[in-house]
Amino acid sequence: MPPDLPVGIHDLSFATSSLVLTHTELSKHTGANVAKYHTGIGQKAMSVPAADEDIVTMAADAAAPVITRHGTGRIRTLLFATETSIDQSKAAGVYLHSLLRLPSAIRVVELKQACYSGTAALQFAAALVARNPEEQVLVLASDIASYDLDSPGEATQGAAAVAMLVSAKPALVELCPATGLHTDDIADFWRPNYRSTAVVDGKKSAAAYLAAVDGAWRDYQARGGLPLEQLRTVCYHQPFTRMAFKAHQQLTNAAGIKSSNKAIESTIAPTTRYNETIGNSYTASLYLALAAVLDGNDTLGEETIGFFSYGSGSVAEFFAGRVVPGYGDRLRTRAHRETIARRRPIDYAAYLKLREHPLPHDGGMHLIPRQTQGNFRLCGISNHQRLYEVVG
Ligand code: HMG
Repeated sequence: MPPDLPVGIHDLSFATSSLVLTHTELSKHTGANVAKYHTGIGQKAMSVPAADEDIVTMAADAAAPVITRHGTGRIRTLLFATETSIDQSKAAGVYLHSLLRLPSAIRVVELKQACYSGTAALQFAAALVARNPEEQVLVLASDIASYDLDSPGEATQGAAAVAMLVSAKPALVELCPATGLHTDDIADFWRPNYRSTAVVDGKKSAAAYLAAVDGAWRDYQARGGLPLEQLRTVCYHQPFTRMAFKAHQQLTNAAGIKSSNKAIESTIAPTTRYNETIGNSYTASLYLALAAVLDGNDTLGEETIGFFSYGSGSVAEFFAGRVVPGYGDRLRTRAHRETIARRRPIDYAAYLKLREHPLPHDGGMHLIPRQTQGNFRLCGISNHQRLYEVVG
């Protein structure tokens, strides 16, 4: 049951990058049967960042409409979750703070634990709001998933950012207090500081994810969590959307419920619509699943939704949230669909060119031509500093 004073997600907005590579185009290069992508992993396309886009510009595009709607008066904390950080020291959120002209009396910090840290940020935000219900916390989850060229993981790349305003008496989703946790030190996917792409053992990572579903669910049940029958659907972290199907199969087994593949498909389908065309957005992925559920149906008031968050390495959490009646009036469905629809398709050669030209790190001044369709851009790099500008 939600706590006496409900705390949760008051607003949710996401943005993705300006370019898109379809799996049909990718399959021309890899020679794979496109059905392997469309059906086998459940992916149709992947968002590709333009040269002047990064985790900060996507996060700014996601957060700006939230700030426009609610103002900054009650925001005292900005939590930025990412595993594709741009700096070892400075929080990406500080750049965002400046781009959005937020007041100086705000604490800004970055969180990391693979794809899980968006959920850590959400839970920490809820605790801060419970301590002082006058305050709001702006949570950002922003990532660019990048694997080695011609590796099995390449087909699961993607990019997106989610902004969530966490507050008391939220308009979208009230978080239920019970949560289930699972941590296991495992080498399934990681990215050493000297690498720009992840190292991954794909099969091991999928097995570790499913083991974490069991572990987090067991802990959730031991701590008074709701039975599975009371959850309208479950939003899963979606490294590729077929993983959500496998995860729900695992969960129904763990919960001792017999469910046909067809029933599992129809429970999961509303959660995958954005991720199947955006790709893995790591920390943002789970919350794109939530956006897809809410944007796709405005009659879910009072329904409870389950969430399973997984971050390789590994940390996982199962929790639930109650959809607030009237939430339909607060959705950003049209903007979300537009951010996906406006992406410019690129061919494999253009994708390769972007991949082969990373940002120079010689300390010199380098200007980056405008390519983004977003309102914020990375316009250059000088003396090892990223330079951003508002273009919208
Ligand atoms: P792969 O080895 O190229 O693919 O990579 P595959 O041969 O295993 O095929 C995939 C599926 O397509 C299989 O289905 C095939 O049968 C099917 P499954 O047996 O799994 O049900 N298939 C076809 N279906 C229809 N028509 C066809 C056809 N051909 C084959 N013609 C792999 C797959 C996922 C391993 C790869 O993409 C990879 O390494 N991905 C990256 C790692 C990953 O996503 N892991 C997921 C769990 S870990 C996680 O979620 C955390 C993460 O987000 C990072 C973080 O936390 O920070 C990754």
